[in-house]
Amino acid sequence: MGFKVSQRCLLLFLFLLSNNSLLVYVNGETEKISCNMFEGSWVVDPSYPLYNASICPFVGKEFDCVENGRPDQLYLQYRWQPAHGCSLSRFDGRNFLEKLRGKTIMFVGDSLSKNHWLSLLCMIHSSVPSESYDVNLSAAKGMTTYTFTGYGVKVIYHHSLYLVDVVKAKTGKVLKLDSITNGNLWLDVDYLIFNTWHWWTRKGPKQPFDYIQEGNKVYKEGDMDRLVAFGKAIDTWGRWVDANIDPLKSKVFFQGISPTHYNGTNWGEPLAQACIGQKVPIPGSTYTGTPSAALEVLKYELKTIKKPVTLLDITNLSSMRKDGHPSTYGLDKKSGKDCSHWCLAGVPDTWNILLYNILML
Ligand SMILES: *[C@@H]1O[C@H](CO)[C@@H](O)[C@H](O)[C@H]1NC(C)=O
Ligand SMILES: *[C@@H]1O[C@H](CO)[C@@H](O)[C@H](O)[C@H]1NC(C)=O
Ligand SMILES: *[C@@H]1O[C@H](CO)[C@@H](O)[C@H](O)[C@H]1NC(C)=O
Ligand SMILES: *[C@@H]1O[C@H](CO)[C@@H](O)[C@H](O)[C@H]1NC(C)=O
Repeated sequence: MGFKVSQRCLLLFLFLLSNNSLLVYVNGETEKISCNMFEGSWVVDPSYPLYNASICPFVGKEFDCVENGRPDQLYLQYRWQPAHGCSLSRFDGRNFLEKLRGKTIMFVGDSLSKNHWLSLLCMIHSSVPSESYDVNLSAAKGMTTYTFTGYGVKVIYHHSLYLVDVVKAKTGKVLKLDSITNGNLWLDVDYLIFNTWHWWTRKGPKQPFDYIQEGNKVYKEGDMDRLVAFGKAIDTWGRWVDANIDPLKSKVFFQGISPTHYNGTNWGEPLAQACIGQKVPIPGSTYTGTPSAALEVLKYELKTIKKPVTLLDITNLSSMRKDGHPSTYGLDKKSGKDCSHWCLAGVPDTWNILLYNILML
């Protein structure tokens, strides 16, 4: 659907030349399909944004930077343009609902997954504003489901900070690297998009556990490198996928690592106060800054999974968007700057356009 036949031939030729592709990890092998949608540049497109967050019924103040007083608006108008003659289909909410009729799509992870999920809901809603929906909030399970009733399409967020378990023990809260007990909530879902990373770097009072456990070994805070711990959890998750996913029923995605912009040195502006006051993306095409160590670990672990998992490789393209964060126009203006989440409309809309193009192929 995304590419014309002649373009396919051209793109095939380009793969051979530049080895650019969408990576699907299957049984330790990487399969390459279509062009690399993840390399390119941000271009101003006056037809953007795709929706007005203030009239999107799903997004609260949390990500609505305009509503929170952000004065500059150019950041709303950047469209992702892949390189190498590759083009993306524009998101069409009705087409999306038609294609997913009767199906369920679930975002599992931390608030970056929530960011991604709310973006998709707003994009669908702005395409089909009169389409009815209902909501089911299950606080105990950390799940919120919106159902577009005319199509029977469920769009779900399951809040899970680490994908693996955090359990209460006598000694305190324990992050268990080799255990996933909530996986039953993910069974029989047609499209699963996972994410975890940001909470792995948290320490001190903002860290929601006291110990890390692997098997019978218990580690005190600081005894295990967080990147190593993250890798072990992804390994556990991968084994869960291999043991539980029926690839004929469920398609599994990993959202990739969403970058933060707290340190200007990473984008050649050492004097920048994190993302505060950033109004334009990093110029140029393709990201050349510091590679994400978490992404390297993630890619390494994904290769060990036997069932197909598609990496939505959004790290580099999002890394260029130092202008895309709520900054001082987030939920909690008093506590300063949010250079971790993304304003809506904004960068996660592009993640959904990429997802849409993969699903519609
Ligand atoms: C978005 O919606 C709000 C509320 O209806 C309105 O005040 C504002 O002008 C709209 N913004 C744009 C760019 O249309
Ligand atoms: C709401 O969601 C919960 C958790 O998934 C489920 O047990 C319950 O049956 C749902 N309720 C309705 C009315 O669909
Ligand atoms: C930013 O990153 C540079 C290079 O990695 C490092 O030397 C510096 O200490 C960092 N600054 C802050 C405020 O973390
Ligand atoms: C992302 O950037 C790194 C360099 O920082 C590069 O090695 C890698 O190929 C890029 N990946 C994509 C998908 O553009």
